[in-house]
Amino acid sequence: MDQKLVVVEKKDQRLYDIAEKLTKNIHDVVIEYKVTEEEWISAIEFLTEVGVKNEYILLSDVMGVSVLVNDLAHHHDHEEHVTDHNVEGPLYRANAPLVKTPAQLCTNEAILKSEQPYVMVGQVLSVHGNPIPHAIVDVWQADEKGDYENEDPNQPEYNLRARIETDAKGRYEFKSILPGGYEIGKGGPTGKFLKRIGRHAWRPAHIHFKIVAEDFNELTTMLFIPNDPWIDSDAIGAVKDSLILDLKKVDSVSEQQKNGFNKAFSITEYNFKLIPKDN
Ligand code: BEZ
Ligand code: FE
Repeated sequence: MDQKLVVVEKKDQRLYDIAEKLTKNIHDVVIEYKVTEEEWISAIEFLTEVGVKNEYILLSDVMGVSVLVNDLAHHHDHEEHVTDHNVEGPLYRANAPLVKTPAQLCTNEAILKSEQPYVMVGQVLSVHGNPIPHAIVDVWQADEKGDYENEDPNQPEYNLRARIETDAKGRYEFKSILPGGYEIGKGGPTGKFLKRIGRHAWRPAHIHFKIVAEDFNELTTMLFIPNDPWIDSDAIGAVKDSLILDLKKVDSVSEQQKNGFNKAFSITEYNFKLIPKDN
């Protein structure tokens, strides 16, 4: 049953090789599982619906292909620690408010109401440890319920999003609330498929970053809140140990007041390390 693809014109060799391998893998699965005509038609109907509902990226995400392609694209040979890349995800919005550090990602009211106020501080550094002044830390996150502003009519425009400019020492700082886990769209074909094969649709709580600095490669990544119930089973398989935050709980009342909080809050320090361009 070995299928050799017939070439009629000058071929794109790489595409030919990938198509041939993919074809062979599909044949192997069909043979191994003795896929029936009904099953094959239903697989084709599923893929058609994925296209109609514009869910191919989501399907690639839950199959772990998006993260795999991102890993390969950003593989580097630096021996020094460089911050790991990650996928951007579908919920990024360009042109979030541009602010100087220290910043706040939501209203005072939201922070005071929150059960989990949060402070994040750190520096943007070169791979050799030199601070990068005037870098832009573009940050976006969900609220405590796991909802992003652009999917939730109850949140203000650009809530929990900002582009923070680092100071002369490459430092950034922002106040926010800890995000909750996010459940990816369950209503469409991808969600139904996950349910049918017994997989959940949760992403562990995380905060996204896109760091832009002159003369450095752009870094897109996400940092994870520790001890999340889904940290070991992210629906898109994006968790990397180096990207799990180390949170400290601050109980001291004077520290709470100094930061404008009315309850214990979490704080973490995280430095981003960027690769110089053409390296
Ligand atoms: C997210 O990061 O929020 C996300 C990533 C992939 C699919 C859906 C959501
Ligand atoms: Fe996200």
